[in-house]
Amino acid sequence: MEKIPYDIILDIQRKVNIVDIIAEYLPIERKGKNYFAICPFHDDHNPSMSISPEKQIYTCFVCGESGNVFNFVMNYEKISFKEAVSKVAQKAGVMLDVKVDDKPKVEDKNIKYYKMFDITNKYYQNNIRSSYGKKALKYLNDRKLDDETIKEFEIGLSMNDNNVSKLLVNKGYDINELVDIGLCGKNKNFTYDIFRNRIMFPLYDLDGRVVGFSGRIYNEEDDSKYVNSKESLIFKKGMLLYNYHKAMKYAREKHQIIIVEGFMDVIRLYTVGIKNVVASMGTAITKEHADLIRKLSKNVVLCFDGDKAGEKATISAIEALEKIGIEPKIIRLEDNLDPDDYIIKKGIDLYNNHLNNLMSVVSFRLDVNKTNTNFNDFNEVSNYIKSITKELEKIDDKVVYELTLKKISKETGVDVDTINDMVSKVPKKEKKIINKRITISKNKYDKAEEYLIYYMLRNKTAIELYRNKVSYLKNKKLSRIAMETLEFYEKNGYINLTDFTIYLEDKKELINEVLRIDDLKLPDDVSPGVIEDFIKTIDDGIIKDEINKIKEQIRTETNVAKKVVLLEKLSNLKKRECK
Ligand code: UTP
Ligand code: MN
Repeated sequence: MEKIPYDIILDIQRKVNIVDIIAEYLPIERKGKNYFAICPFHDDHNPSMSISPEKQIYTCFVCGESGNVFNFVMNYEKISFKEAVSKVAQKAGVMLDVKVDDKPKVEDKNIKYYKMFDITNKYYQNNIRSSYGKKALKYLNDRKLDDETIKEFEIGLSMNDNNVSKLLVNKGYDINELVDIGLCGKNKNFTYDIFRNRIMFPLYDLDGRVVGFSGRIYNEEDDSKYVNSKESLIFKKGMLLYNYHKAMKYAREKHQIIIVEGFMDVIRLYTVGIKNVVASMGTAITKEHADLIRKLSKNVVLCFDGDKAGEKATISAIEALEKIGIEPKIIRLEDNLDPDDYIIKKGIDLYNNHLNNLMSVVSFRLDVNKTNTNFNDFNEVSNYIKSITKELEKIDDKVVYELTLKKISKETGVDVDTINDMVSKVPKKEKKIINKRITISKNKYDKAEEYLIYYMLRNKTAIELYRNKVSYLKNKKLSRIAMETLEFYEKNGYINLTDFTIYLEDKKELINEVLRIDDLKLPDDVSPGVIEDFIKTIDDGIIKDEINKIKEQIRTETNVAKKVVLLEKLSNLKKRECK
C-alpha cells in the first residue's frame, strides 16, 4: 500500500478551506468568527458542529467528533483516508500522482478464487447468448428483463454438462479448490458441475468481485427454486448484500437505502430507475448486514414481500437495525406481492406512492397487531391493547400520540382514557443519549498528563522536556499522542495543531483526543518551570501506582525472603516520593 507523502497532503490541505468543503456537504451558518452546522455524525437537531477557519478544524461539542478537512470527508463519505485525500485534491485542483488503490494485497489463494469465479461468470454469460440460451433468454424477457439489464447484472446460464469443471481444470486450476468454492463436486475419479440448467446470478462481494452464484430454475420443476454457492473463504452470505457495490453511490446521493428480499426485486427497481437498493437474499438481516447498511445511509427503507413471511422478516430486520440505532421506515405491499411483481402488476406510480408515504415502525407494528387480532374476542382485544401500549409509549409527538390513541379507541370500542391509563403504567425507559461526551472527574495526575500534552501541542520546550524527562504516561492514549507529537516534531522541526492532525491521518481516536485537549482553556504562555511541575506530578503518579502495586504484593507474599526484598523496594520508592 503506497502512502501519500505527508508534505503532499499538507500542500493539498493548504490549498482548500475547510469551510468551503464542508459547505458542499451541509448547510452552514456563520456566527462570529466560526461557522456552525447540524452535525451529520449524530442525531443532531440544533447546529452543534463548529468549524474554525482559523484552525481549519471541525468539532462537534455534543458527540465529540472532530478533525481536519480530510477527516471530515473520510467520515462523511465513509471512505478511506487516502480516498479522502484524493477527493479533496480534486477539489483543490491538485494532480495527485498516486494510485488510490487502498485494497490491502489479498493472499494469492484469494486471487486465484476470484479468477475462477470470474472465468466461470464469463462462461455462463456466454452460454446464455449461445443457441442453447434461447429458452433462458425468453424466460427472462417474459419476466420483462431486457438485454441491457441482463448484461448489467451479468446474468448467465449453466448447462446440463460438466464444462465448468473441464474448463477450469484445463486452465490448470486444482480440482480440490474448485470443490472448496462450490463450483464442482467430486466422486472417486469423476468431477462434475454443481450448477446445472439454471439461470445464473453472480453474487458480488462489497468491492464488486464475483464470489459466488445463485442459480434459478427456469424450464423445469425442481424442489429448490434457487441454488446458492456454498459458503467459502470469500463467500459468506451473512456478510454480503446483493447489489451493495453498485448501490453505494446511489444510496449516498439519495441519502436513503432500500432493502428488499430477492435478486429480481433489486433488478426490477433498478430498471425503473430506483438504484439505491440492496437485497438480503432471503436470509434474516444479520448484525454484519446492519452495520453494512448503516454505512450507506441512516435512512433505511424495508420493502420485503407483502406476504406473511415478508412481514416476519420485516419484524426481525427492524430488531436488528434498532440494535444499532437505526429506526427504519417500512413499505407494506398489498396483495401479498413482492416488489418485482408489484411494479409489473400495479406500475411504478403506485410503487412511488409507497416510497413517498413511508410507514414508521410504530404504525407498522400497530398494523401488524391489528391484522392478527380477532376483534370479536374480548381477550384478544385486551392483548391487542396491551401490545399497543408499548408502541404508543414510543411516540414523542403529542398530536400524533393523541390521534393514534383516538384511532385505536375507535377500532376497539375501548375508552380513550382506559388506553391512556395503560400507557402511563408502562415503565418509562430512560431515553438513551448516544455519543454524549462523558466527563469523568479526573485526579491531579491524570490532569497533569493532559496539561503536558496541551503544551506539547504548541510549545517546543514542552516537547523537549517530555523527551528528556518523562519515561511514560499512565494513560495509553495520551502516551501515544505524546510519542506521535515528539515524532512529528523531530521530523518537521516545528509543531502546529492542524498539521499534526494531518500527520495523524486516519487515527481518529487520537485526533479527537488531541482536539479535545487543545480545547482546554489553559493560559497559553507559561514558563518551563510550570511544565516541569506537571512532569513532577506525572512522576509522582507513577510512583504512587508502583507503591500501591508493591503494597499489594507484600500483602499476598508468603515467602519471607521475598517479602524483605519487596519491603526494601517500598522504602526506596517512598524516599523518592518525598523528594
Ligand atoms: P423469493 O422466493 O421471494 O424469490 O426469495 P424471488 O426473489 O421472488 O424470486 P422470483 O421472483 O420467484 O424469481 C427471495 C430470495 O431468497 C433467496 C433468493 O435470494 C431470492 O431472491 N432464495 C429463495 C434462495 O436463496 N433459495 C430459494 O430456494 C428461494
Ligand atoms: Mn419474485
